[in-house]
Formats: sequence, structure tokens, C-alpha cells
Amino acid sequence: MSMDIMYFLSCVLFPLLLLIFFNFLRHKQQSNKDKRKLPPGKMGFPLIGETMQFFNAQRRNKLYEEFVHPRIAKHGKIFKTRLIGSPTVIVNGADANKFLLSNEFKLVKSSWPSSSVHLMGKDSIMEKDGERHRFLRGVIGTSLGYAGLESLVPKLCNFVKLYLVKNWHGQEEISLYKSTKVLTFSIVFECLLGINVEQGMLDTFERVLEGVFSPAIKFPGSKFWRAMKARKEIEKMIVKVVREKRKEMEEGRLEREEDRMLMSKLVYGMIQGEISEKEIIDNVVLLVFAAHDTTSFAVAMTFKMMAQHPDCYDKVLQEHVNIMRNKRWGESLNIEDIKKMKYTWQVARESMRLFPPIFGSFRKAIIDIEYEGFTIPKGWKVLWTTYGTHYNEKYFKDPLSFNPSRFDEGIGQYVFVPFGGGPRVCAGYQLAKLNILILVHYVVTQYEWSLLHPNETVTMDPLPFPSLGMPIKISPKHI
Ligand code: HEM
Repeated sequence: MSMDIMYFLSCVLFPLLLLIFFNFLRHKQQSNKDKRKLPPGKMGFPLIGETMQFFNAQRRNKLYEEFVHPRIAKHGKIFKTRLIGSPTVIVNGADANKFLLSNEFKLVKSSWPSSSVHLMGKDSIMEKDGERHRFLRGVIGTSLGYAGLESLVPKLCNFVKLYLVKNWHGQEEISLYKSTKVLTFSIVFECLLGINVEQGMLDTFERVLEGVFSPAIKFPGSKFWRAMKARKEIEKMIVKVVREKRKEMEEGRLEREEDRMLMSKLVYGMIQGEISEKEIIDNVVLLVFAAHDTTSFAVAMTFKMMAQHPDCYDKVLQEHVNIMRNKRWGESLNIEDIKKMKYTWQVARESMRLFPPIFGSFRKAIIDIEYEGFTIPKGWKVLWTTYGTHYNEKYFKDPLSFNPSRFDEGIGQYVFVPFGGGPRVCAGYQLAKLNILILVHYVVTQYEWSLLHPNETVTMDPLPFPSLGMPIKISPKHI
């Protein structure tokens, strides 16, 4: 081949062919993108989209009725919108819940507002993916799962009994929601982590929680700024506890009982070089956040439902009186007694079905997702909802009526989802269950109680809570 032809091929023809080939690929990709069928729905105004409508409905605790349901009626159970600047697809129904929640890490990853990530910390399990998530869940799960909690039952009982004596005894009126918050906070710290609750700690944590869903603006005086300041105080406190515990462990000064506590497991992991100090701090903050408002709201709604349905309350009371009759005076409950609280747990679950403490949660598509003939583009947010199944006639007959007996029969997968599902299913499910059942046991067997405001509304900011804190009237009961 002559030098001229060689020169022509290498300098002109090959680059030209490459250019044509890449151009062809680009066009093909582009035309594939154009062929994508996005879910129906309106994106609203540029940038803010339908955020205002979303927040307005949320504030009135009418997110499902006023925002989601009208759009389902118009577009179907999968629709697109734009929320807080992000294109978002909202999905509803058991199949969608299953598809999304079980494909965590493969198709989607959890996606929290940047203020939550700053305040909970980048090293909490809610921010971890894949192997690291599995490892940390393993450590936390051994204390929070069924096996770990069995030994906690008597401890929780003594704790709840003492709490009631200290805080309810001699009182005529109690804010049930606020009181349960204090109790849950103390349970997480003292029973789970083995840290003594000191004066002012709850207030500091509440300041952090107040900033979790506010705009991440570090302007002096802003909610987020105050929350970050509170987080720094908490960090100091936890670091002190962690270092003391480490010293105790290294010097072999730890009591056997404490040895089994979650904090000891975390510190042990740190000594082994498997967990960092920052991971311990972030996960402690997350556990308090995850347990706090959720459990208190579930307790408040369980009591509200019992007050509104005296026939159900009679059955609950009977269940607890029967358990109590088989106990000696002052004897704690054990795991077998908890198993006997079948109807009470049905009442609590039915209350969480009608009033889920968590509306749903956001994910982010990590690749283009094909679902039900639509494409959810990579980078878009996806919101699954508890209401999409809980309020649907297809899954629950007469869905708005309170009927705990519906749980006599098995409920389909991903239908009843107050605790989520898939790899991120609530890690504190068992603790929440024990907390609710044990509290109900001691309140209904020791107190006559009634709601002071039977028509009290529920507000959301951003999690739901009874707007007046659910005050109840109490007096000692003599069974
Ligand atoms: C009635 C009470 C509770 C309800 C309704 C509830 C609900 C939920 C839901 C729906 C999720 C999944 C969120 C998602 O998919 O993004 C979740 C996750 C979580 N919950 Fe709960 N929760 C409750 C109590 C608790 C308690 C008492 C704890 C621990 C002390 C706890 C710890 C966690 C943790 C650590 C996660 C994150 C799991 C992960 O990312 O792997 N929760 N919870």
C-alpha cells in the first residue's frame, strides 16, 4: 500500500468513520430516550413544581386525601410530579411497594433531604448501602430483633412501671403523646443503649429533630442552625460515653448485663476496628429519631381508637386482666405473656393502618427503571406510600372503618406497611411492638382513663401528631 493511501486511511477515513459511528450511537441513545414513556401527571411550576400543594395538604394531615388520591383518580396509581425541586414519581399499591422496597440498592436507594443527612450524619444506616448497610444492621439488629428483646421484656416492664409511678401517680391529667415520647426516649437510652438519661438531654435531642426536615440553611437563629448546634452537644455527650465504655471494656470492668447492650456491641466493634466512632454517634442519633415520634403517635392512636370503640376496649381489657390474674403481685411480664396480647396487637396494627406514623418514604432511581410500561428516569425521586394500600378497598374491605378483627386473617405481602419492607424494613419493629403492648398493659390494668378532647385533630410537621398532645384524664383503678 502506498504511503499516501496509508496516510489517508489513518488520518482521514478512520477518524471519520469513528465520528459517524459515535454520532449514530448518540442519536440512537437520544431517540431511545425520546421513546421513554414517563408516567402521567403534571410537573407543576418550574423548579417548585407542586411542592406548595404537597406541603399544604401535609400540614392538614390530608396528604393522601388532598394530594395523592385526586391524582390517582386522574392519572392512575403511578404518577409524576415535582417536589422540592426534584422530579418525583409517586407509586401506590402492594406490587409497587414490593417492586420498590425489595429492589433497594439494585434499582433505588433511600433519599433523605440534605438537612436530615447533616443532622443524622452520613454514617447512620439510613445513608449506608449494600455490604456496609448489611453489616451495621446486623450489629443493631441483634439487639433490636426478637432474640435480643426477649431478655429485655422484664427490664422494659420494670422501666414502664417505674415511669408510671414517677410521672403518672397522683396526677389527674396526662398528655399521653408527650408522656410516651419521654418514655420512648428513656427506653432507647437506658434499656437499649445503657446510657443514663440526664436533665436536658431530651430537649437537646428534640432541637435536633426539629431541624430534620427544615431547609438546610445555616443562618444564625434558623431551625437548622439550632439543630446543628444541638447535634454538636449530643456528639460531645456520646463521645464521652463511648470513650468511657471503651476504657471499661479494655480494662475488663464491664458488668455482664451491660455487655449485652447495643452500646457495648458497637464499642466492641470499634475496638475490633470494624466500626468508627462517627458511625456509633450517627447511629445513636438515628435510633432516637426513628423511635421517637413514630412510637408515640402509634400509642396515641391506639388509645384514641380504644376510646372510640368501647367494645374493642372491653376485649383488650379482658386480655390484660387474664394475663394479670396468672401473675403474682409485682411479677413482671415475660415473652409468653406478650404472645398472649394477640387482640391488643391487632388493635394497635389496625390503628397504625388507619393512622400510619410514617406516610411513606423517598427513594432515588439509581438507573432508568422500567415499571408497568413507564420509565422512571435515573436520578428521579420515587415516593412509596402506606396509604396507597392501607386505604384501598382492594386490600382492606371497608378501608375507613376500624376493625381489628380483619387481622384474624393473613394479610398479603407489602399490603400492611407501617414499618416499610425490604432491606430497609424498620429495624426497631420488635422494640416498638413491645413498647406499645407493655405500656397498654400497665395503663389499662392500673388506670381508668378517658380522652379529654375526643375530637382532637391530627397535624403533620412533617410527621403526624395529635394537635393538643392528646391529654387524657386518669385515676387509679382497683381491679
Ligand atoms: C411504631 C413505631 C415505628 C414505626 C411506624 C416505624 C416505621 C419505620 C419505617 C416505615 C421505616 C422504613 C423507612 C424507609 O423505608 O425509608 C423504618 C426504618 C427504621 N426504623 Fe422504624 N419505626 C418505628 C419504630 C422504630 C424504633 C422503636 C426504632 C429503634 C429504636 C426504629 C428504628 C428504625 C431504623 C434504624 C430504621 C432504618 C432501617 C434501615 O435504613 O435499614 N424504628 N421505621
